[in-house]
Amino acid sequence: MAHEKITEAVRRLGVRFPIIQGPFGGGLSTARLAAAVSNLGGLGSYGAHSLAPSDLGPLVNEIRSLTPHPFAVNLWVSDHDQGGLELNEAEFDRVFKIFEPYYREFGIQRPEHPAHFHHSFEEQFEALIEANPPVFSFVFGVPRPAILAECRRRGIVTIGTATSIAEARMLDEAGVDLIVATGFEAGGHRTSFLKPAEDSLMGTFVLTQLVSDRVKTPVIAAGGIADARGLRAALSLGAQMVQIGTAFLACEESGTTPEHRAMLFSDKAEQTTLTRSFTGRLARGISNRWTEDMIARSKELPPFPIQSWFMSYLKSAMIKTGRTDVLPLYGGQIAPNLRHRTAPALMESILERL
Ligand SMILES: Cc1cc2nc3c(=O)[nH]c(=O)nc-3n(C[C@H](O)[C@H](O)[C@H](O)COP(=O)(O)O)c2cc1C
Repeated sequence: MAHEKITEAVRRLGVRFPIIQGPFGGGLSTARLAAAVSNLGGLGSYGAHSLAPSDLGPLVNEIRSLTPHPFAVNLWVSDHDQGGLELNEAEFDRVFKIFEPYYREFGIQRPEHPAHFHHSFEEQFEALIEANPPVFSFVFGVPRPAILAECRRRGIVTIGTATSIAEARMLDEAGVDLIVATGFEAGGHRTSFLKPAEDSLMGTFVLTQLVSDRVKTPVIAAGGIADARGLRAALSLGAQMVQIGTAFLACEESGTTPEHRAMLFSDKAEQTTLTRSFTGRLARGISNRWTEDMIARSKELPPFPIQSWFMSYLKSAMIKTGRTDVLPLYGGQIAPNLRHRTAPALMESILERL
């Protein structure tokens, strides 16, 4: 086909088109979306960082049952920030007080202090490698050399993610197969791991050029790309593929709520913000009551994953009631240009204009 662009990255992944559906963590990925994109010739992904290790084998089997083509499963290498592993009772009480008025408003009981706030990356990886996914993508760090070696031994393609030149160099030296260069336009988290995310805020346009000029590993551009001209621009800046998030999140096959999807297509999407109030790590979403309320309290918020754990109860309540005012409304700066409501419509529209 005329629009089939064969690059080294496309060859390594064994897909037809230079398009990756970005993984969505926190329950927003679905096997259905990942398989749909892979069946359409792109690379579908599933963001699995919040899943228990025991859920990863069944997940890989489920996606495999829906597509014969390659797909990626994504984990977060760093599973907690400093001070995020445990909380003493006094700190638990202090953090609960931030959430209490909202919990009260939505009839949520004070939760029990858990044994842990997030699953361990090492345990997740052990379970994932047994399931042998075709592609393992990751953010927030570089896995230990033994992990990358095990992927190579099994023929699992690895994709790391950089928000700066230094992070891209580190991934390049570690020998990952592909590097995502993700600009601050992107929806979801800033996945910086060498410097604080606030000190690593580069746009996709500049980051793609800087990284692809400096590493031997093929580069995938992510952030602010939602149509064929974005893809063409990224390819002309040195990327070999693109990773698209927000435009796929808005498709009905994704795991988000109809209300979140409607917000992505509304005028409200013109105002996104970078905030630590969703999980404790910096992330981009549409401004709402929650992000506004938390501006004044940003210094009091606990680190990842503790903030995320307290937030999960509010998220469940929002999903049940269909409200969006205290829901993390993840989305990138390109959202006001979204047009398509299904993965096939989005893929076709990009491919026919390529
Ligand atoms: C809701 C949401 C969750 C995301 N979660 C992850 C994740 O867990 N792992 C990851 O590598 N990227 C994650 N991303 C980033 C996307 O995979 C993709 O790189 C990014 O959205 C591209 O920028 P765009 O939103 O401007 O298209 C997430 C993005 C969104 C919008």
